[in-house]
Amino acid sequence: MMPFVKTQHAILITLLLMPALLTVLPAEFKALAPEDRTTGPLNGDVVLQCQLVPALNAQSMTVVWKQEGVQVHQYTPGSSNQNHGGKTQLFQEELKTGNVSLRLTNLWVSDQGKYTCSVWVDDWYSEAYVTLEVIAVGSTPLITVNEPQGSGLTLTCVSVKWLPQPELIWTDGKGEDMSAKAETTAKKDTEELFTLTSRLDISPQTEGGVYYQCLIRHKQGQVTQQSRVQLSGEYFSNVSASWKTGVIILILSVLALLPGVVVLIMRNRRGKKKKLEEGKFTET
Ligand SMILES: *[C@@H]1O[C@H](CO)[C@@H](O)[C@H](O)[C@H]1NC(C)=O
Repeated sequence: MMPFVKTQHAILITLLLMPALLTVLPAEFKALAPEDRTTGPLNGDVVLQCQLVPALNAQSMTVVWKQEGVQVHQYTPGSSNQNHGGKTQLFQEELKTGNVSLRLTNLWVSDQGKYTCSVWVDDWYSEAYVTLEVIAVGSTPLITVNEPQGSGLTLTCVSVKWLPQPELIWTDGKGEDMSAKAETTAKKDTEELFTLTSRLDISPQTEGGVYYQCLIRHKQGQVTQQSRVQLSGEYFSNVSASWKTGVIILILSVLALLPGVVVLIMRNRRGKKKKLEEGKFTET
């Protein structure tokens, strides 16, 4: 009977003193990052999640966040936060429930990397990791049509300011993937963002529909940017028609104007000779 009563008392006392005890006794907790990878938008904000389990009050603990081993934020009880030029911020109210998540504002490419959330009080320490990837959705692709020497057309698709490096897909009017025939390059600009340039050669004889589409997207993302170029049937027939006309005119000129052409060439040569001779005369 007696030991039982004592235990009951002990529990009651513990419950009553719980809030006080928690701040005095060395606490046992674990820092946990619910996600080991997270993404944030370029120029936007992100919250790097870190939570103490059990949900102890972290207001009396030291909280340090590091990016790739370099400190970006420090919270020490009773002193002001050190916050990386105002870029980082803890949620003061949330600390009471062990939420030591870090808010990062105005994300830039250089904010990417592995972050460490470390929390300690007395001689107890725990840390967790979360990797941040910054995402940028680039510009609407610009498609230009060129008619290089020889037959066919070259379509060029350009889009800027992507992060990470996206994939580019060409499709024709039937929805068929033409990407294997294209030549695509990804280059980093001065801001470390990707510029994509892709060239696709098509022949006017291609029956593959009247439009071509250039689509760009992140490998795992849902956001896409796309443009299409409409090449009307007239354009194709115009191309071949003018080409045919050109050939016919050429043949005609070869057949009918051959003597004239020869005369012209000979005249030219004479002219040149004359000029040369004149030049010689003036030199001497
Ligand atoms: C921590 O607090 C932030 C800001 O209020 C919130 O977005 C986040 O969901 C909280 N995390 C947890 C685990 O409650």
